[in-house]
Amino acid sequence: MSDWFKDSVVYQIYTRSFKDSNRDGIGDFGGVIEKLDYLKDLGVDVLWLSPFCDSPNDDNGYDISDYLTIMPEFGTMDDFDALVRGAHSRGMKIMMDLVMNHTSDEHPWFLESRSSRNNPKRDWYIWAQPSQGPGEGFEEIDFDQAGRGYAGRARGPRLSGVDTGFLPNNWDSYFGGKAWEFDPQTGEYYCHIFSKKQPDLNWANPEVREEMFRIAHWWIDRGVDAFRLDAVHHIGKPEDWPDAPVPKEPWGFCLYKNTPETHAYLQEMNRRVFQPRAVLTVGETGGTTPESARLYVDSDRNELDMIFHFAHVHMENPNDASALTGLMSQWYAALKPGAWDAQFFSNHDLPRQVSSFGDDRWLRGKSAKAIAALLLTSWGTPFMYQGEEIGLPNAYFPDIGDYRDIHALRGYREGLVSGEDPELVMAVFQTRNRDNSRTPMQWSGEANAGFCEADVQPWIPVPQQNRHINVGAELAGRVEYAPGGSIGGAGILSWYRDLIALRKRYSVLRRGAYAPVNPNHSRVICYLRYLEDPAFTEDPARSKELGHSSPVQSEDQPRAGEKTLALVIINWTGTQADYHLSPRLLSQAEYLDTPPEAVKDGSLSGFSLEAGNYAVPGTPGPGEESLGGLCPDESGAIQGGTTGVADFAAALGGDSGEFDSDDDLPETGRPVLGSAPAKKMRLRPWECRVYLG
Ligand code: NOJ
Repeated sequence: MSDWFKDSVVYQIYTRSFKDSNRDGIGDFGGVIEKLDYLKDLGVDVLWLSPFCDSPNDDNGYDISDYLTIMPEFGTMDDFDALVRGAHSRGMKIMMDLVMNHTSDEHPWFLESRSSRNNPKRDWYIWAQPSQGPGEGFEEIDFDQAGRGYAGRARGPRLSGVDTGFLPNNWDSYFGGKAWEFDPQTGEYYCHIFSKKQPDLNWANPEVREEMFRIAHWWIDRGVDAFRLDAVHHIGKPEDWPDAPVPKEPWGFCLYKNTPETHAYLQEMNRRVFQPRAVLTVGETGGTTPESARLYVDSDRNELDMIFHFAHVHMENPNDASALTGLMSQWYAALKPGAWDAQFFSNHDLPRQVSSFGDDRWLRGKSAKAIAALLLTSWGTPFMYQGEEIGLPNAYFPDIGDYRDIHALRGYREGLVSGEDPELVMAVFQTRNRDNSRTPMQWSGEANAGFCEADVQPWIPVPQQNRHINVGAELAGRVEYAPGGSIGGAGILSWYRDLIALRKRYSVLRRGAYAPVNPNHSRVICYLRYLEDPAFTEDPARSKELGHSSPVQSEDQPRAGEKTLALVIINWTGTQADYHLSPRLLSQAEYLDTPPEAVKDGSLSGFSLEAGNYAVPGTPGPGEESLGGLCPDESGAIQGGTTGVADFAAALGGDSGEFDSDDDLPETGRPVLGSAPAKKMRLRPWECRVYLG
């Protein structure tokens, strides 16, 4: 099977907020088309378009009312076709966000389904009669008074003259409240694990599956190359709707995610759609563990190519390097044999990555670059989210009137009803709210950040305090001085470009195995990438055979000096870190699940540290190849430009460059890293180094 996705970088476009081309304050396909050259220039390969089918937009398109029509705010089918053509002609692919777990309650299927118990579409959704009440051991909770119950079935709403009984089970909705809504017309409840305007489809019904497969084929015929499958781990639900064991998992999600039914449906869809059409698939599967994830992506099981899992974005302390390294290692160990991973730090549901993982106040530029370095040198396909390439921080809206997300608005209302202090609710929103990352893309310093024209009101405000951050300023190389004199941004966009180019240039960064180095370090993330399979070289014939994407095939000859090892070192904190790259650590096999032979026997003399810190890429000299600002020498080795060389020297020699004890020597008594004797380095806040050898 073709695995071009392993060589790709995906860029998520939240169309509504990307670029408005028709003066209605809402981003649209015309706007995306305007920016295709920008995206191409950035170097990304796949454009993930958030849902664009017709929708009443209760949840910004994740509530579809017609799967085969374009949302009018985004344009027409002709605009979509033009966008696909424009992307394809530039060598980029299109990923569609396919929402199959639920539709809008305004979808004609649901309107039919709710019209009577006998309607042929009744069984397309999940309907259940009022239940008799909580089972034994369940605490009874009054729906009207408590609003939500954690420990049992809630009582139905009080409606005069109607017996609404108890809810069919105790499942909760992700968007607050319970997962069931009473429908007075037919006297039954329907299931909605998101908002009540997003009724869940009944995948147990073969007609529903058939229709979904047809829709997927229809879009592939139209030019779609890949699918992001929304909330796909929820599609299969146990047919008798059992109560979630209480209080083991308070939200009662465990019974409607990652079920055997879900896997069976995905295998069917893989057979019927994904395999025959060779599309890339990535499933959104929050709450999966490394073990449950394997069931989706193990290539022998024929389900999905990748999934999104979220443990790292919910870390208690996002700056705990050892915790993050631990997660990365754990997932790598679980998925590496026969599967693949997706890497990301933000998306349209999450806060901006520079705000959650970095320091968006004092060291915005440096921390944004460090996060990018981790993303783009990791094992797995990197997924970027619009705006991260200019280091956009959270919106930090101070006023509830600025928020648009139903999740936020409902949370706010509920908070007030249950007596919470509105200021505290707003304080939580500052960091945990989906609108933080849904504000308009900032293209320029003009009014409305160049997202829409100055006299047009954008659908959601441009955060005023972030106005100086924009693509124009980045392109002009403007350095921003934060209060207190520290350097804020600038250079983030070119850093992204350089790193993407570097990843494309060296297969070790895409295909190489991963091994953490010194994984217990609380502040520094360090790892090796290494090519264990000589097939993963830049040999064009072999690349073709492997189905690699065009950038890898672009050379006529195999490259001289292909690198087989990369060493990445990132100070994951905002303070200086003295880091000791002990050869012993490198040679200790227990830190490396499958160490390269050279590490195992301590003979890493061929591991030459040639590249330095790419913070300030050098200018290619006469005859040198320009690689996004990086300069490979004759042998293909990248010299990291002026500061790169200096950093390298500083890292390996001078004051901090001596072995300070025998501990620093490997068992063989030879320095591990070539003849360079020093392994101690002083890393500046958020400093990152990528060495290739
Ligand atoms: C996950 C999507 O990412 C999110 O934005 C949406 O609200 C839910 N699924 C429901 O479709």
